[in-house]
Amino acid sequence: MERIVVDPERPDSAAIARAARVIREGGVVAFPTETVYGLGANALDASAVRRIFSVKGRPSYNPLIAHCSDPGIARRLALDWPEAAERLSARYWPGPLTLVVRKRPIVPDEVTAGLPTVAVRVPDHPVALAILRAAGVPVAAPSANRFTELSPTTADHVARSLGGRIDLIVDGGPTRIGIESTVVDVTGQTPVLLRPGSIETDALEATIGQSLASPAVYTSKVARPAPGMTPRHYAPKARVTLSPCGDQGALAFVLANLRERSATPVAVLLRTLPDPIGADVSIRMPSEPEEYARVLYSTLHDLDDRGMAEIVIEAPPDLPQWAGVADRLRRASVPVEDH
Ligand code: TXA
Ligand code: MG
Repeated sequence: MERIVVDPERPDSAAIARAARVIREGGVVAFPTETVYGLGANALDASAVRRIFSVKGRPSYNPLIAHCSDPGIARRLALDWPEAAERLSARYWPGPLTLVVRKRPIVPDEVTAGLPTVAVRVPDHPVALAILRAAGVPVAAPSANRFTELSPTTADHVARSLGGRIDLIVDGGPTRIGIESTVVDVTGQTPVLLRPGSIETDALEATIGQSLASPAVYTSKVARPAPGMTPRHYAPKARVTLSPCGDQGALAFVLANLRERSATPVAVLLRTLPDPIGADVSIRMPSEPEEYARVLYSTLHDLDDRGMAEIVIEAPPDLPQWAGVADRLRRASVPVEDH
């Protein structure tokens, strides 16, 4: 596997040309976006897209996001472009927002898992945009990790998860946002927030002038579980337990219980609470949601590397600006058996 290091602000044009050529020739390339690293292939080439699924070990019922260099290209994949899509794309692209729209036939079923809709986004990262422009095609890209593992926020994370299985990693340093994009389905009367991310729901609702529906409502209307709703997702190898925000007694109780059951190494991630007794590693997390999101996955990756069997996390406050982080922590704490 080839790895090219680039300056994230001014990527070397030879490196970009190399990545674009691999994509045009049907290969898969890992590259940075502002959220997490993506694993990209030509979205209009069904067999290239199939390689993404085999590399990731991802079930084919899970649809991918088509990354586009500009909104015009995204629109060309869509059958129609509702008012909500117009407003949201005008306000947030390039940026960490994915829109689900009705698809045109040129988008292969491999990208959309056979759904009549396609997810599109214009990422806000100089390296991603340069690759997309040079490739001249939309690029289907899930996060560049094996299925159900943590998303990568550095090229090292990608190499450890997928090294040897992919053609090229473009290393543009750590990603800025750290959790995956916000996903909004704009195909119906009421847009649906399918995945919270770094953009606050209030701001999305103000942009479209209406409330967003929640995926619970959405899932009850479809015949099978909505894609991407696999409960355990974004999970480290260690078992994750959430402990209520600011509750010292609850944390002490969780730790005492773990200690009683086994002697395996336990880490705690704290935000407001003081260091408890009974943890082998205690990490202080940022108090603001943007900073927290940026370091979350690399903190969990590090704890996996250090062989932690249990990670106890002080839950964030139940506030709208924490929705994206809270969603990832909740999914990380779903037991493997329920997967
Ligand atoms: O920030 C991100 O979105 C990153 C970077 C690489 O762009 N990508 C990412 O991709 O997180 P992935 O495949 O890990 O997550 C894509 C999400 C999943 O929840 C998937 O179910 C949803 O988008 N999705 C894709 N197409 C869809 C569709 N047609 N209808 C509903 N949900 C869809
Ligand atoms: Mg993913």
